[in-house]
Amino acid sequence: MLKKNDQTKKREKEIEKLIKKLTLDEKIAMIHGASLFRSGAVERLGIPAIVTSDGPMGVRAEFMDDRWIPAGNQDDMVSYLPSNSALASTWNTELARDMGYVLGAEARGRGKDVILAPGINIKRDPLCGRNFEYMTEDPRLAASLVVPFVKGVQENDVAACVKHFAANVQETDRTMVDEEIDERTLYELYLPAFKAAVQEGEAYSIMGAYNKINGFHCCENKRLLDGILREEWGFDGAVISDWGGVHKTKEAASCSMDLEMLVYPDFDEYKLANPLKELVQRGEVSVEAVDAKVRNLLRLMYRLKMIGPKKDSRKAGAYNVPAHREMILKTAQESMILLKNEKHALPLDAKKIKKLVVIGANAAKVHSDGGGSAEIKALYEICPLAGLKMYLGGNTAVKYVEGYYVPEELKTAENWQATSLDEEENLEIGQAIRTDEAGENELHRRGEEERLAKVEKEKAEIHQKNEKLFAQAIEAAKDADAVIFVGGMNHVVECEGYDRSDMKLPYEQDILIEELLKVRKDTILTFVGGSPVEMPWRDQAQAILWSYYAGMETGNAFAQIIFGEVNPSGKLAETFPAKYEDCVTAKNGQFGKWGKITLAEGLYCGYRYYDRQRIAPAFCFGHGLSYTNFEYSGLTLKAEKGKNVKLTFSVKNTGKCAGAETAQVYIAPIAAQADRPDKELKAFVKVKLDAGRTKKVSLTLKQEDFAYFDEHLHKFIADAGDYEILVGASCEDIRLRGIATLS
Ligand code: BGC
Repeated sequence: MLKKNDQTKKREKEIEKLIKKLTLDEKIAMIHGASLFRSGAVERLGIPAIVTSDGPMGVRAEFMDDRWIPAGNQDDMVSYLPSNSALASTWNTELARDMGYVLGAEARGRGKDVILAPGINIKRDPLCGRNFEYMTEDPRLAASLVVPFVKGVQENDVAACVKHFAANVQETDRTMVDEEIDERTLYELYLPAFKAAVQEGEAYSIMGAYNKINGFHCCENKRLLDGILREEWGFDGAVISDWGGVHKTKEAASCSMDLEMLVYPDFDEYKLANPLKELVQRGEVSVEAVDAKVRNLLRLMYRLKMIGPKKDSRKAGAYNVPAHREMILKTAQESMILLKNEKHALPLDAKKIKKLVVIGANAAKVHSDGGGSAEIKALYEICPLAGLKMYLGGNTAVKYVEGYYVPEELKTAENWQATSLDEEENLEIGQAIRTDEAGENELHRRGEEERLAKVEKEKAEIHQKNEKLFAQAIEAAKDADAVIFVGGMNHVVECEGYDRSDMKLPYEQDILIEELLKVRKDTILTFVGGSPVEMPWRDQAQAILWSYYAGMETGNAFAQIIFGEVNPSGKLAETFPAKYEDCVTAKNGQFGKWGKITLAEGLYCGYRYYDRQRIAPAFCFGHGLSYTNFEYSGLTLKAEKGKNVKLTFSVKNTGKCAGAETAQVYIAPIAAQADRPDKELKAFVKVKLDAGRTKKVSLTLKQEDFAYFDEHLHKFIADAGDYEILVGASCEDIRLRGIATLS
């Protein structure tokens, strides 16, 4: 067997040999889409097409080759995975590996080479339409989860395509918005998870984002793709553009953008197709620049065993296998977050309930088929109502009332991708606007105006219908042993392509909830949604359970938690502000604008902002309750050679049932020389404990965990001095404190 180094040398030699054999036309064919989700192949030399597919919640249905229309197959339903926001709420790195593994296996099982996932953009504003696809507001948590996730995917000889690089923080004007970001913020908040994905996760591919950063589109951004990704981080994988993310041929040709993908079927007109060929022929772009892209793509193919000596041993994957569903159920169980639980309102005792009333449209709603590119054709999806009924069986009467009105037509989400390609007419508009940035902007703006007008019109209709539905719900609630409200959002409200316009629960749910709490104080309030909502009635509520889009087993996990068969252990991976006006982005007005936004808050995003301003959120970062209690004790800190800090402490389950607790470690620099957030998450550990048991936890914080990015020196540095180490059950509920000194 050859050693790794020799293997690499041999592979690179083989790649060079192949490059020498390729004609310019063949090279060009390889570096742009030859179909909506596939690159060009060179059959003559046995070089296959790279077959990609969305997305983060499962492998998307097959599309027609040259039309943005589902192929209508009967064999492309798949396992529906919990969203990345659900996964992040588990704070469980093993589950992150498992979810990656399931996604990779299903992608390979469906014959894919690259799965366009995971989405790891930092959540900067709760209204971002794609937040449900992303993990968290914290770079350390995102980094810790993306590494095992990517490894899990790639165990299957499938590439993860980590997206969207970088700082894709809003959907408004998503293909044109220019984000002004200072260096330090970029390096400390928006890049770390990508860096971890590349360096520790060894991601084979990265997707360039649509937005611009400091004036340059990410997909042709030399600084980002060459300077940071390749030179600083040593990435030698492939960069794939977001679909339509490339705007200028010369710029994309002369930086590390390896494969251009787009939503239009005029493949030869892609920037890296004929326009590039012309530039090469005129001597304005070198053949070497084209070779560099081909080299990265061939390396990807080698790694995936699509070509080369290991071709016959490539894994086959599998989709819809029972083992995947088990892992998905486990993740769903650990993802749900008990936000509030007073008077032991939860769990409910199933034996005592003869008549259960379930109120709310989300009880009977499935979500897998929406959201934009994250939509999938699920093999099945168990909604909360089905989960409750399946759990209780036939001896309990379960009465369901819709509670609030969800307009029928709103349910078909307007998908920017779908509407951009399905008609000849659109194709013409597409061609026209693609040569003109202002035109593209105009088209999107028009679409957004139409969408908003429709939403406005529907409000009156909702109000009118709700009168009757509310009355029905209140009547039903009065006559029940227990009442469960299942509300929240759906993928019409939060979707790729646009941002939410406010943080309120849609369809007047707040009014219904307040009425319900008046007649039934003990109403169990539960929600399915992908990003924070205001909960103005939260003080009156006894129990609040939050579930992100948690996959095909949502309903089962939901019922198990409601009836106490599973003890909830999810914790918020993002702050739930009390009201939208409390968000820094609401204050600085730098979110959801067209044209240009400045990330003026700098590092003060998420809990870093609420901490600094002493603004109490509704539920803070890291918060999540359990049916049992945990006690923290005995923090010891030992600085090793003045560099690493070794931490130990104990967590005890002091309640009556088994449970799991995520202990979070934050650092708070004392007398820092640079401006530093009050506290920053640096480590966490999820401990599973039977009732009465104690576990001693050991963790090591490395010197780099104490560092900040110095813009002048252009590197991370850790100042010597004292740091407070905070160990807590959330970012506000700090249980243990100690001081560590770095020399
Ligand atoms: C989305 C990507 C997605 C791609 C392909 C784009 O519009 O931003 O996340 O992977 O389309 O569907």
